Amino acid sequence: MRVLITAGPTYEPIDPVRFIGNRSTGKMGYALAEAFAARGADVTMVSGPTQLHIQHPRIEVIAVQTADEMYAAAAKIAPQADVWVFAAAVADYKPRSMATNKIKKDGDTLTLELVKNIDIAATLGKQKRPEQFSVGFALETNDEEAHARAKLQRKNFDLIVLNSLRDAGAGFGHDTNKVTLLTAGGQMTIFELKPKAEVARDIVQTVLASLSAISTPHA
Ligand code: CTP
Repeated sequence: MRVLITAGPTYEPIDPVRFIGNRSTGKMGYALAEAFAARGADVTMVSGPTQLHIQHPRIEVIAVQTADEMYAAAAKIAPQADVWVFAAAVADYKPRSMATNKIKKDGDTLTLELVKNIDIAATLGKQKRPEQFSVGFALETNDEEAHARAKLQRKNFDLIVLNSLRDAGAGFGHDTNKVTLLTAGGQMTIFELKPKAEVARDIVQTVLASLSAISTPHA
């Protein structure tokens, strides 16, 4: 089995020394890469800038900075992958253009014009073949289940991993996570707060179970 994972933040350059980024550490994506590899999958992980390192014969890491670079790398791998996991915290917007030179502090205010980034999961989702399986993440603060279900449909996911910011110890920066898994078929499973490595194993187990259910339909 071949697995494509996007992980970490993206950095969107403002000028040669500044960028727009976010606090994603990449821990969830890296834990998923390890968990899939431990189950015998060949993993390609397209990763934004993180402090993490991974050494595993079954895991290839492609390092990128921007959402556009992440999309270009992921789009090359996606057609050959059986499973896609979009764990990256992609910047929703980028500066319209990168200043060639370092921006000087000339004025009292500075206005940056931002334009929407490509939605990697949604764009690849349009080309998903029936036998391919796509997993997305949703980080929500309110009406969590409804928002996650809408995202699942909009991005053509088969499974969505919901984090609620209302749960202590879940999401960005923590070593633990508390997730709810929602399937396109309407199933919902709520998990306890756990270390991210264990959360990753739960997600991988759910993906593998879903895939074997698809490939061995009941008579
Ligand atoms: N995602 C992506 N490319 C983007 C934005 C998001 O691939 N440009 C993926 C994320 O990796 C995640 C899922 O889409 O798997 C959900 O992203 P999120 O930003 O929470 O959803 P949005 O559709 O941007 O909705 P909103 O920010 O309005 O909640």
